Amino acid sequence: YMIDKGNHRHFMEKEIHEQSEVVSHTLSHYIDFIENKVRKPAEEIDFSSVSSLAISACGTAYLAGLVGKYWFERLARLPVEIDVASEFRYREMPLNPTSAALFISQSGETADTLASLRYCKDAGLKIGAIVNAPESTIAREADVVFPTLAGPEIGVASTKAFTCQLAVLASLAIQAGRARGTLSGEEEAALVRNLAETPRLIANVLNTIQPSIELLARELSKCRDVLYLGRGTSYPLALEGALKLKEISYIHAEGYAAGELKHGPIALIDENMPVIVIAPFDRFFEKTVSNMQEVAARGGRIIFITDERGAAATKLETMATIVLPAVDEIIAPVLYALPIQLIAYHTAVFMGTDVDQPRNLAKSVTVE
Ligand code: G6P
Repeated sequence: YMIDKGNHRHFMEKEIHEQSEVVSHTLSHYIDFIENKVRKPAEEIDFSSVSSLAISACGTAYLAGLVGKYWFERLARLPVEIDVASEFRYREMPLNPTSAALFISQSGETADTLASLRYCKDAGLKIGAIVNAPESTIAREADVVFPTLAGPEIGVASTKAFTCQLAVLASLAIQAGRARGTLSGEEEAALVRNLAETPRLIANVLNTIQPSIELLARELSKCRDVLYLGRGTSYPLALEGALKLKEISYIHAEGYAAGELKHGPIALIDENMPVIVIAPFDRFFEKTVSNMQEVAARGGRIIFITDERGAAATKLETMATIVLPAVDEIIAPVLYALPIQLIAYHTAVFMGTDVDQPRNLAKSVTVE
């Protein structure tokens, strides 16, 4: 890896565009695409015998973990406890030594994540770590290391590390499903065939959505607040979208579970606050669309991120509709991360902020 920006204006832009390649590397490490199976690693967590999984991380890595929770629970029927590391380490949750713990960190040095790891280790749990920096403290102290092969990430706002973390979590959830007997060999093969499409789809999406996102970003750069909504695995993405936008453009943004709209944020809806709705045409689609109609009925401006089927099924007037290819639920979070990253990136570029080194933020947070 050459640590320069190449033809890109910022490291963040370069890292967004590397995702097809690095997600492909990462998936190939975990999946045998000839056999259509998740590889059996030399060292592993024995998912067949663990009673639950505790996941802990900070920032964007935490949001990858939140997507992972949906996958482990649905595909492997494995209960997941998840919290941000700064809460996890202090909330004195009852830990069962039959549980395993999973820590997610790009740098492998985040102080709260490391403290959570040590806390679980003291309780006798088996420790797994998804890390991008193989020589890091978290990698050294874990029992099992699951590398993300994203290469060095320079932009403070995490992009390619996040999608690689999702690739690892999807692979581990499938592995856990096989170990626990909740996924058949055919189901595993079908999921793996879907994952195999991811790098090509990432490249395809990055090649097609940029112009519409640049137009949209010009509008967003004039806004003071933005709301993101999603359901299922699109809910962590709504949180990630809001996090990215505030980190690098300094526009206030909030992410909400779409179903929570009526429990508070609907009071904020007016023509001044765009609402970004993340809704692939999945089993949650109808529900999310009904939330979107509640926004429209109150004069809210909608930015709809969906797929071809979702766009065809909806007749709402939107400020922008970003259309992605229709994909299986297991790939959707990786693909929907792309418009979310690009919206934040292009908005920040319009605002003229220091995209790679936003004010007050650090790439690696080694103090509590
Ligand atoms: C900082 C970075 C974020 C990152 C978080 C966790 O806040 O700005 O982009 O998600 O730390 O970092 P880690 O290295 O543990 O993934």
